Amino acid sequence: MSQIQVEHLVKEYKRKKNPEGLIASAKSMFRPEIETMQAVDNVNFAIEKGEAVGYVGPNGSGKSTTIKMLCGILKPTTGSVRVNGLDPFHDRMKNNKNIGVVFGNRSVLWWDVPVIESFRLFQTLYEIPEKRFKENLEKFTEIMDIAPLLSVPERQLSLGQKMRCNIAAAFLHDPQIVYLDEPTIGLDTESKASIRRCISKINEEEKTTFIITSHDFQDIESLCRRIILINHGKIVLDDNMQSVKQKFNQKKQIQFEMEQNPWHNGEEFICQGVRVMGTTSHSLKLEYDLEQTDSMKIMTAVAKGSEIQDVNISGRDIEEIIRDIIRKDNHIKRSSDVM
Ligand SMILES: Nc1ncnc2c1ncn2[C@@H]1O[C@H](COP(=O)(O)OP(=O)(O)OP(=O)(O)O)[C@@H](O)[C@H]1O
Ligand SMILES: [Mg+2]
Repeated sequence: MSQIQVEHLVKEYKRKKNPEGLIASAKSMFRPEIETMQAVDNVNFAIEKGEAVGYVGPNGSGKSTTIKMLCGILKPTTGSVRVNGLDPFHDRMKNNKNIGVVFGNRSVLWWDVPVIESFRLFQTLYEIPEKRFKENLEKFTEIMDIAPLLSVPERQLSLGQKMRCNIAAAFLHDPQIVYLDEPTIGLDTESKASIRRCISKINEEEKTTFIITSHDFQDIESLCRRIILINHGKIVLDDNMQSVKQKFNQKKQIQFEMEQNPWHNGEEFICQGVRVMGTTSHSLKLEYDLEQTDSMKIMTAVAKGSEIQDVNISGRDIEEIIRDIIRKDNHIKRSSDVM
C-alpha cells in the first residue's frame, strides 16, 4: 500500500447565499438559503515514501482543502484518505506524530516567547526524547540557519525568518511526511532560494515525503519530480515533471538577430506552423509548432531573407504549460456547462 492513498475524495462546503437587493437580504436574515459547493471533487492519487509532489492549481481550486483533509484538520464529506494506513481525521493524534505541516500564511510559534520556548513546547506535545530533540534542534537550526533567532520572540521576526523557524519546527519530531502549503509566500528571492535548498536537502537526506503547494513554479520545479494539477476541485493532470514538459512542449520559440530584418515594416513572414511574436529592424521572434515544422526549416526560410547573426531557441516553461492546461480545462468546463 502507498504511504498516502486518496480515493474518491470529496469535500463539500455549505455556505449562506447572499441574495442581491434589500428585501431579499432582509428575508435571508430570517430564512437563509444555503448553497453547497464542492471544493474537492472526486480526487484520487497515491504517493510513495520519499516522493516530493507539487500540488498546484489556481486560487480556490481546492489545494488547501485537500491538504487539510490529509492532515486530519478537515473531515472528508465522502471518499477516503489513508496515511500510513491511518485515517487522519479519526486517528488524528497518531497521525500527527508522523507528519509535519507548514501553512505559509499561519505561524505555529507562540507570539510572545522566544522561538526555542515554542520548540520546547513541541517537544512536550510530540513527546520527543531529550537526546533526539537536541540532535534535531542542532541539525535543523543549522540547515535553516536560525541559530541567532532562537532567543528572539516570534513577533520580532521578519516574514522570512518566521518561515524558516516554522519549517524547522515541523521537523523536530522526525516526521515521515511534511505538507508545505505555500511555504515561500511573500518572501524575497534570496529567502525563497534558501528555503528551497533546505527542503531539497532534507528530502534527499531524510527521504521525507513532501507535498508542496505553491503559486511560484520555481518552488515546484526545483523541489518536485511529480506534479498534480487540480482545477475546480478535480485532478486535471498527475505526471512526472519531465514528461509533462515533453508532452506539452509542442510549441517552441525561436529568436533571430540579423543584419536587416526584411519582415519588419515590410512583407509578412509566412511559414507553415509558425506565428510571428515580434519584430524589430534587426530581430525576429517566432513561435512554432513542433508537429508542423522544425527549427531547421525555419532557419532556412529566414536565411533566404537576411544574414543571420545569432539564433536562440527556447521551450515554454512549466508555468506556461500549466497555465495553458488550465485555460483549456476551463474552456471545456464552460462548454459543458452551457450544454
Ligand atoms: N471554510 C470554508 N467554508 C466555505 N468555503 C470554503 C472554506 N474554505 C475554502 N472554501 C472554498 O473552497 C474552495 C477551495 O478553497 P481552497 O482554500 O482549498 O483553495 P486553494 O486551492 O488552496 O486556493 P489558494 O491558491 O487561493 O490558496 C474555494 O472556492 C473556497 O472559497
Ligand atoms: Mg490555499
